[in-house]
Amino acid sequence: MSTPIHDLLLGDHARLDGLFDELESAAEAGAEAQTLRALWTRFEAVLRAHLAAEERELFPRLEDRHGVDVQELRAEHEQFRALLDRVGLEVDLHAVRAPAVQELIARLRAHADREDATVYLWADTETEGVGLLATLQALLAAATPGA
Ligand SMILES: [Fe+2]
Ligand SMILES: [Fe+2]
Repeated sequence: MSTPIHDLLLGDHARLDGLFDELESAAEAGAEAQTLRALWTRFEAVLRAHLAAEERELFPRLEDRHGVDVQELRAEHEQFRALLDRVGLEVDLHAVRAPAVQELIARLRAHADREDATVYLWADTETEGVGLLATLQALLAAATPGA
């Protein structure tokens, strides 16, 4: 079965993983604060766009049939925004603490697994596929670094 929306969103999770790995490697290599700030800003922009795209276009289409799942995923998005604010502030202060970053990443990975097994699975089978795919593609591409 073709699952283009599922593939698109999983691909965006992989992109976020890649951006985060880049940030982590730079931090470990002792990169300058300015470089770390730029990498963080890019990661944050792509993540916030991903959260917003899901909330605006995907969740509302599944909410009627899967209210509890969607509500819990929305709550997790709010936690991510709070963690992004916290780590962003630490980046500004050049005082990033590993626990906050590790918590964000661990939660993101658990959330991604959960979406993979729920809303991403339903995205292709329970929504009007083609229109949603195009809309999501446009929203996610808008956050592409350098675009
Ligand atoms: Fe999500
Ligand atoms: Fe997601």
